[in-house]
Amino acid sequence: MTVDLDRIARAGLKEMGDLRIDDVLSFIDSGIENMPSYMDLYRRWEAQQWAVGDLDFTLDRQDWEEATDLERKATLWSHRLFFNGEERVTATLAPFVWAAPTPEIEIFLSTQMVDEARHTVFFQRWWHEVAGTDANSLGQLLLEIRPEANEGYNELFYERLPSTAQRLASNPKDFDAFVEGVTLYHIVIEATIALTGQRFELESMREQGLNDRGFYRGFTAVARDESRHVNFGIKLLQEAVREDAQRFAPLIQKTLIECLPLISGTLDPPDPSYVTEFGYTESEIVQYAMESLSKRLRAIGINLAA
Ligand SMILES: [Fe+2]
Ligand SMILES: [Fe+2]
Repeated sequence: MTVDLDRIARAGLKEMGDLRIDDVLSFIDSGIENMPSYMDLYRRWEAQQWAVGDLDFTLDRQDWEEATDLERKATLWSHRLFFNGEERVTATLAPFVWAAPTPEIEIFLSTQMVDEARHTVFFQRWWHEVAGTDANSLGQLLLEIRPEANEGYNELFYERLPSTAQRLASNPKDFDAFVEGVTLYHIVIEATIALTGQRFELESMREQGLNDRGFYRGFTAVARDESRHVNFGIKLLQEAVREDAQRFAPLIQKTLIECLPLISGTLDPPDPSYVTEFGYTESEIVQYAMESLSKRLRAIGINLAA
């Protein structure tokens, strides 16, 4: 069955409940065949605005009250990684905007910064209205939810990402650093880790018939935003490799190889039942992540074996 990409592109928050995550993500693959320009991605952003304030979490709250201890723990584990991750990518994107090699890229990345801020606020609202918290500021809430020791996650979000952003801030003309940064930010963190997590959580909600919930709608809108970000990353790296494969392919490969163990490390739950309870296995999730990564790499024009 062919996916109605137009319907997905135009869907408002209400219609998000009728969308399947795999169809939303098929935008990335269609973009690979027929790559949009940076300004096309900007125009999509204009057309795909949504507001956290328009979501209704009433049913989500009822579900939460009836949820089992295991369901709550599994959801909190995943949402802590996402919430904190969205805030970290909001905080570190500004140097990428400054280091953008063209004004079109600068414009696109500015839209992305707003998206990441909105994704952070989405989780903030979910926490206040569904999981519950006494925190009275976003800073306090972020401290409260910061994920517990997860080596892959800590290295990605607290070492690699800020140090890449710092390199760009110190020298915005360093295009090698920009290419490494996009590999880390758009390909490893967004395309491979975040979209995999989103895909399994949304699919599991849909299978349980929870696709009319505020979280399902908002998180699907988040995934549609992410599909634009990932498309940008593929395009940027594809152009770099086409321009000078000898210079850029090894840079991208090196970054990816260093990050591979961190990907499985981040996706690995502290308790396997956090995923098996919902009908999945850890290896299935990591396999999905690796398959999406290979698809993106083929589009960029590199492979990992080289
Ligand atoms: Fe995001
Ligand atoms: Fe993103």
